[in-house]
Amino acid sequence: MNFALRAFRSNSIWNRSMSRGFSTSSMKFSDHVFTHRNSDINNPNIKFSFTPENLKVAKEIIAKYPENYKKAATIPLLHLAQKQNGWTSLSVMNYVANILEIPAMRVYEVATFYTMFNRDPVGKYFLQVCGTTPCQLCGSDKIFETVEKHLGIKVGETTSDKLFTLVEVECAGACVNAPVMAVNDDYFEDLTPESTIKILDELKDGKSPKPGPQGSRNTCEPASGLTSLNSEPYGPGFMVRSDL
Ligand code: FES
Repeated sequence: MNFALRAFRSNSIWNRSMSRGFSTSSMKFSDHVFTHRNSDINNPNIKFSFTPENLKVAKEIIAKYPENYKKAATIPLLHLAQKQNGWTSLSVMNYVANILEIPAMRVYEVATFYTMFNRDPVGKYFLQVCGTTPCQLCGSDKIFETVEKHLGIKVGETTSDKLFTLVEVECAGACVNAPVMAVNDDYFEDLTPESTIKILDELKDGKSPKPGPQGSRNTCEPASGLTSLNSEPYGPGFMVRSDL
């Protein structure tokens, strides 16, 4: 052990932190993350193709790129295909490779790199609860606990009725409204255990809960009220000489 590391470890902060329990993300085994094995629900014989509407959208996306750089459309097309299929199966990836006229491996590389592509089926409502520091400091542990208890699943699991899948994600980019949970494409912010249960129940009942901050504040204004820009904006000509 080098000198600097030994000095650091003898520091009381290190000792204190070693005695604290850290929460960890759910473990992912490498064969689960990187290796595909054919199964009844995920094999190359299962047909996938865009609906006529999505095919039209796909053509518009491809047209944004030069003819010889169609591969640049890989991510938006995978996104579109995942939206249609619900998840990114092998057939989805092969189909995207086919219409972009690129080797399938190029698409596999992208789909396995970005966590937004779900290569296993997920529930109708894909719950992504943020567990990164600002959200954790604002109570995300309680949100995880609430979702797990209310739905009877753990992080990484799907409810038996296939309605909800819960995952933990890193910063969702809405720290100012922490703690945050994304449900499919919508963000639910400023969560409390009570508001989380209300959202889950509404989803269960087939309703559409209102996304955004669940407290009283408007968007990401200061939680304690406005501190600036709290008067009417000046009109044109303000402080300008009248003869000008
Ligand atoms: S840390 Fe949760 S949104 Fe940034």
